[in-house]
Amino acid sequence: MAKKTSLPLSKVYRLIEPGPVVMVATSSGGRANIMTMSWHMMIDFEPPVLACVISNRGCTFDVLRKTRECTINIPTVELAKKVVACGNTSGRDIDKFKKFGLTPCPAACVHAPLIDECYANLECKVIDTKLATQYNIFIVEVVKAWIDRSRKDPRTIHHHGNGKFVVDGETIKLASKMK
Ligand SMILES: Cc1cc2nc3c(=O)[nH]c(=O)nc-3n(C[C@H](O)[C@H](O)[C@H](O)COP(=O)(O)O)c2cc1C
Repeated sequence: MAKKTSLPLSKVYRLIEPGPVVMVATSSGGRANIMTMSWHMMIDFEPPVLACVISNRGCTFDVLRKTRECTINIPTVELAKKVVACGNTSGRDIDKFKKFGLTPCPAACVHAPLIDECYANLECKVIDTKLATQYNIFIVEVVKAWIDRSRKDPRTIHHHGNGKFVVDGETIKLASKMK
């Protein structure tokens, strides 16, 4: 075996980061909010279905349970500081759209707003909350998706823990059978 040492179990998540850090927007009682999420997973292609881990300590958990709607907004590196700020604060205390200078736009199929500054936006409906109590997992279906095709090199950010992020960089093409 190569020279390896034991890794604390609390740090395992840093090796399995699932994809770009995203911003989950919700709306309840006329109040829009944003939370930052890095723990998510694609489950199906079409309709697209995702699993989202949303902690019951934040207010997004309760809103999502009640309204069963959200948008998942995909930011690029230019927004990184605002993304982290939305993950370090709670909608219980502040209006994050105002505080961090983000623009809510009406969505087509859900009441939750789209975040205009993000290069892609997914309108989602919660289709299963069976795992929410035990694992904070919400299963959502994407019912409408938007993308800014004028962005030629959207560089998403990926969370490696403890304030460290990797920015999308080099692209390689291989003959993969996965669509
Ligand atoms: C980079 C980053 C990634 C995060 N990923 C998640 C996540 O996947 N799931 C989660 O529940 N919280 C995650 N958080 C923490 C929430 O964004 C944070 O608890 C937030 O304050 C919740 O806001 P709310 O109370 O307005 O819902 C993350 C925070 C940061 C900074």
